[in-house]
Amino acid sequence: MMKTNREQKIAVIILAAGLGKRMKSPLPKVLHPVGGQPLLFHILDRVCEVTPQSSVALVVGHGREEVETQVRAHSRYASLDLHFIHQAEQKGTGHAARCAMDSAWGEKIARAKTPVLVLPGDLPLIPSRLVEQIIEPLHRMAGLRLLTTELQNPTGYGRVVRKGKQGPVLRIAEERDANLREKEIREVATSIYVFNSAFLKAGLQRISNKNAQGEYYLTDLIAQAARAKKRVEVLTWGESGDLRGVNDPWELAEAGRTLNEKQVCHWARQGVRFIDPSSTWIDVSVELSEEVVVYPGVFLQGSTKIARGVTIGPNVVLSNMVIGERAVIKAGTVGEGSEIGADAQVGPYAHLRPGSQVGERAKIGNFVELKKSRIGSDTSIAHLSYVGDAQVGSGVNIGCGFVTCNFDGRVVEGQRKHQTIIEDGVFLGSDCQTVAPIRIGKGAYIASGSTITENVEPEALAIARAKQVNKPGYAKKLREKS
Ligand code: UD1
Ligand code: CA
Repeated sequence: MMKTNREQKIAVIILAAGLGKRMKSPLPKVLHPVGGQPLLFHILDRVCEVTPQSSVALVVGHGREEVETQVRAHSRYASLDLHFIHQAEQKGTGHAARCAMDSAWGEKIARAKTPVLVLPGDLPLIPSRLVEQIIEPLHRMAGLRLLTTELQNPTGYGRVVRKGKQGPVLRIAEERDANLREKEIREVATSIYVFNSAFLKAGLQRISNKNAQGEYYLTDLIAQAARAKKRVEVLTWGESGDLRGVNDPWELAEAGRTLNEKQVCHWARQGVRFIDPSSTWIDVSVELSEEVVVYPGVFLQGSTKIARGVTIGPNVVLSNMVIGERAVIKAGTVGEGSEIGADAQVGPYAHLRPGSQVGERAKIGNFVELKKSRIGSDTSIAHLSYVGDAQVGSGVNIGCGFVTCNFDGRVVEGQRKHQTIIEDGVFLGSDCQTVAPIRIGKGAYIASGSTITENVEPEALAIARAKQVNKPGYAKKLREKS
């Protein structure tokens, strides 16, 4: 897919220990979801794409157990040689990098003279080609390569101070330390660098925290390199939007919008027709196909996969769903962790709870809820029903208002719910209930209004309701009484 740079060895430090005070949330910043996954995963994905074999030090602090658990739980990151480095106290980006370089991991990297790519955990929009370019081999006289960009509004970012207007870089002035003239500079540091590892390791021992925030700034290494007459290479990135960081909930929302726009644009170019791109939300992990039509207000989430020719009506939410070719999902339907077969019709306002499977050409109509149930092909459950823990065969017709009574209030050997089996070709009239565990044999016919508590053998007719009594003239008598 992407061009990779496998020949060159590179080590990676990802700075992900900060709490992110400005997020005003106890959740560590790098775990805040955007585009359907934690902020940090976007950076890890780029690293996986470009240098899948690299050795990665992930500096963690705030909520580190949670961060570690989530990263380790992801099979996608298994190819990376991942090391979690604990930064117990958040004393700044320079201190975070030092924790990595002073660890056994850092010793090894420095001994091997492997260049070190530093990435922050809070830049979810960087493209793979940016990573490819920044990791091009450094000149042997260079201390580092610095990635910069120009911002219309550079507030909050470290400013790149140069000798003269276009001269070599002298240092980075952080927002809170910058004087008025420096604040006017629009070229900013992005927290992305490649360091010569010897320079990085030695330089980090020398930085101080005598600045406005009392922090150890990684950006101080630029002044150090300039003073030591080490070359500071600069890569200037034209698309500043790629480098927008996430520091507060508003920036998170903006990053989410940008990621979404990229996804919608990508799938539109693959042949998906969106009626209203701005109101459609697609996680980065979702897959669509040609000739799919998506109406406004749709959310496609998680591992959802949509096959060719599917129509997704307005305000549909699909999470971890697999949808077969030409299926039609009508307005207001919510589906989670389930499968819908080819040419099936679902909704409007259907609810598929996890573990359900809808067969080919089946019809699940309005206000039908399925849970852990398999519905065979050509089966119809068209109106107002609850089907839970059921195996329903093919060619079954279920009338309006059917309920599988699957819970009797007891838990037996850890099992709470009972199974309902409805074999092929069964006809259930309207307003029936079946009390599980129960089996309705192939081709059986259940009369409307029945509450079925006993198994029904194949081809039988079951009627389970009070017999009707008609009393002639009785209505009139009742009226006269009152
Ligand atoms: C940093 C840069 C700034 C640059 C900006 C670009 C410094 C001093 N400043 O500022 O020049 O313009 O990024 O986005 O480097 N972190 C730790 N441990 C710490 C502190 C931070 O791991 O002790 C991590 C954070 O989790 C975050 C990253 O480092 O992922 C950047 O930290 P943040 O506080 O967001 O730095 P900025 O103020 O944005
Ligand atoms: Ca930041």
